Amino acid sequence: QCRFAGGNGDTMSRLIIVSNRLPVSLDAQPDGSYALRQNVGGLATAIGPYHSSHHDCLWVGWSGEDPADHTPEEIEAIRSTYEENRCIPLFLSAEQVAGFYAGFSNNTLWPLMHDFSHEAVFDPGTWETYSHVNQLFADALAPLIRKGDTVWVQDYHLMLLPNILRQRFNNISIGWFLHVPFPSPEIFRSLPQSREILKGVLGADLLGFHTVDFVENFKSCVQQLLDIETDDAGHIAVDGGHTATVDAFPIGIDYNLYRRTTRSSLARAMRRGIEEQSGKRPGRHHDTSLSAESSAAAEAATKSGSWWSHHVHEELPELTLAQSAMFGKDSKPNKVVVSVDRLDYTKGLPERLRAFERLLEKYPEWIGHVTYYLLATPSRGDVETYQRLKQQVDQLVGKINGRFSMLAWTPIHYITRSLPIKPVCGIYAAGDVALVTPLRDGMNLVAKEYLACHDGRDGALVLSDMCGAAEELGEAFIVNPYDIEMTCEALHDALEISPEESTRRNRAMQARIKARTAGTWCAGFLDALLQVSNPGLDDKRL
Ligand code: ADP
Ligand code: G6P
Repeated sequence: QCRFAGGNGDTMSRLIIVSNRLPVSLDAQPDGSYALRQNVGGLATAIGPYHSSHHDCLWVGWSGEDPADHTPEEIEAIRSTYEENRCIPLFLSAEQVAGFYAGFSNNTLWPLMHDFSHEAVFDPGTWETYSHVNQLFADALAPLIRKGDTVWVQDYHLMLLPNILRQRFNNISIGWFLHVPFPSPEIFRSLPQSREILKGVLGADLLGFHTVDFVENFKSCVQQLLDIETDDAGHIAVDGGHTATVDAFPIGIDYNLYRRTTRSSLARAMRRGIEEQSGKRPGRHHDTSLSAESSAAAEAATKSGSWWSHHVHEELPELTLAQSAMFGKDSKPNKVVVSVDRLDYTKGLPERLRAFERLLEKYPEWIGHVTYYLLATPSRGDVETYQRLKQQVDQLVGKINGRFSMLAWTPIHYITRSLPIKPVCGIYAAGDVALVTPLRDGMNLVAKEYLACHDGRDGALVLSDMCGAAEELGEAFIVNPYDIEMTCEALHDALEISPEESTRRNRAMQARIKARTAGTWCAGFLDALLQVSNPGLDDKRL
């Protein structure tokens, strides 16, 4: 039995967050214990810190573990490690995960929500599992819920849950927030279960979206598919006397956490490493001897043991251009481009790589002088579209590196592991330019994290106009991510911008991000929920 179940004599109401994925995962250790690992993704990043700092807040979600792979003792150890961190894990079978998570959530809803309807698969079997698993989440919540509690449901995996909860408990406040875009009715109506999904989320008292545009799309869907109008205050009168309210709540980041973490010794070491590797500052990885043209210097270099580079340069200058130019007085300054993503087709990675390739083609003066650190962690590997994308990105990186690499310079450093926050901040801090070019994104937190890691200093952001963040970050180099030529030009301009100008632009954007953090976002949503919900006392269950 879960340690948080029942009243335990305590009647204080609580906040219970519910999402498919918990903010942390567990890694088995050799001694049989489990270590916590922060999960990747905007939802975990934004709400994780709120949950850890509010000691009365619980989080219910999928454990990520298949019970068939574990002994009962292991399951108990997993459960109790999660509970020590106020997380209540749900165990789903492989079949349930295939239908609910890989299937309906990520193969049907995710592409539809991101305007990739050509990738959406409509399968009645996965819909059935999706509905069933939404019920399982309600079952997992039932023993935890107390009178007056707030249940805050997250994202597209649990769109039926708000109404299931409303039918089962009428003495709680129910919020729902969508972390991805909401599409236009033309796209959403192609979903065979579009009406059921709308009715499902309308069970909430408050429905939140990242932008006003997504709110408008949702209202149009409700009007066209359910024939219900929304009034000017965002109220939607649903059957049975319930009124749902819709509004926009643009999500933020924990700005100070990123600013602070950038100063940690690991982040600084990471930054230093990248700066040395890319030739931004001299280090052991670069042989500076070839900057000297004179034979005296060459002789000195030979004496100091770097005879090989000189020799190769004489025979094959095209392979050592980077090295010889790297510290030469007339050469371009060396620069670092960075990006951090889950490997997802909505992030526009192939298009971005083509824009980088185009830069090297169109502006060859950058060859040897710009190094791209591409951090892209594989995601949702059970879904075929993601497997294809991984192959495509692997091939493109290989192709570009093969085409442009030199003896001491590789254009793209491709890292596919998921890194903790400290090294991620180090990568952001090392980036003269961040390339954040999703084809579609609800908000995109990476853009904001990059700016927080450049607090008070230079660093240029190239940002897609297809994400919510573009509405707040207008001083960035805004691009249409499908337009390779435009992205290439923006990248070139971003590499050339003066530190004074980029610091000035960043200051304006940083002020906005600082004012709207993840903490103020959580508080703003929960305050608004309190205003619109009025948990009744005529208890159906308690
Ligand atoms: P999404 O939620 O679609 O993944 P966001 O940009 O909103 O996109 O949020 C991504 C979050 O996950 C950010 O906090 C980012 O730092 C983190 N993240 C993404 N990719 C990685 C990675 N490869 N390693 C570590 N953290 C990552
Ligand atoms: C996006 C979704 C989240 C999801 C995250 C990571 O941010 O909005 O709900 O958790 O991606 O994806 P995953 O499938 O690994 O949970």
